[in-house]
Amino acid sequence: MGFDEMDVDTIWLDGEFVDWEDAQVHVLTHGLHYGTGVFEGARCYDTENGPAMFRWEEHLDRLYQSGQPYDIEIPFDREELTDATVELIQRQDLDSCYIRPVAFYGYNELGLNPSNCPVQVAIAVWPWGAYLGEEALEEGVDVAVSSWRKYSSSQIPTNAKTTGPYVNSVLASLEAKDNGYTEAILLNKEGNVAEGPGENIFLVRDGEIYTTGLAESILDGITRQTVITLAEDLGYTVHDGATISRGELYTADELFFSGTAAEVTPIRTVDDTEIGAGTKGPVTDEIQSKFFEVIDRRTDEYEDWFHYV
Ligand SMILES: Cc1ncc(COP(=O)(O)O)c(C=O)c1O
Repeated sequence: MGFDEMDVDTIWLDGEFVDWEDAQVHVLTHGLHYGTGVFEGARCYDTENGPAMFRWEEHLDRLYQSGQPYDIEIPFDREELTDATVELIQRQDLDSCYIRPVAFYGYNELGLNPSNCPVQVAIAVWPWGAYLGEEALEEGVDVAVSSWRKYSSSQIPTNAKTTGPYVNSVLASLEAKDNGYTEAILLNKEGNVAEGPGENIFLVRDGEIYTTGLAESILDGITRQTVITLAEDLGYTVHDGATISRGELYTADELFFSGTAAEVTPIRTVDDTEIGAGTKGPVTDEIQSKFFEVIDRRTDEYEDWFHYV
């Protein structure tokens, strides 16, 4: 669904609430030419206790940290960004939404050195359902190993959520969709499993859980951290620094994606090979159910993960 079909009318830009159509930048904006921006994707959930931003503090931490390699100093503090986001959600009367903060080098001059460009910051929120579809959450998705490799963390910091390098994810997503798959899995430069274009990946084998480690050129997903905590609290052994070879994907008992967008999505086939029984496996089901119980606030546990609007 396009933005124009959504009931949203306000964006926060550089400290001001502006009308949606007035949230503009100059075509010579540094970030537009060189991808010198950092961003976040968070969700506000319609919980049993009212709208609440999920793991907002961790998303803010990552936003500020993402800027560090690029000397992007966000000229607003955590409280200002939090207040702006809460007010955006309230003003537009949203119960649940996606939250997109972005900070980027703006307009002043164009050259590879961005130091003379101002850092601009925007926050937008909009209604958003299940990213890969409701059916995907139940039945699982069909994925393909991409012919594009994930760029290496020795080339571009993969633990920073930087706008420009997302062309890598765009290429992988386009290829997967063009070939009839819902999503891609990217291997890293070494040829081991990295992650999805916008998701981390988990593998279940013999009742234990594995997820690729930070040295595998992945983004340290906040949903990844959430799943690790939930799984450990459910009593599972989680290997969160795993190196997973491509071959292990096909013989896994279960595979699933985690992400703010994808939440906890089972993977039912990889390159047309059925994973386990070719449907949502029991471990994935238990973790996914717990995840939804937590974000719906049908439990009092993990209350500090929520920032009520
Ligand atoms: C490349 C990549 N990996 C993993 C994730 C999952 O991260 P999170 O759970 O913080 O949304 C995302 C989404 O932001 C992503 O873009």
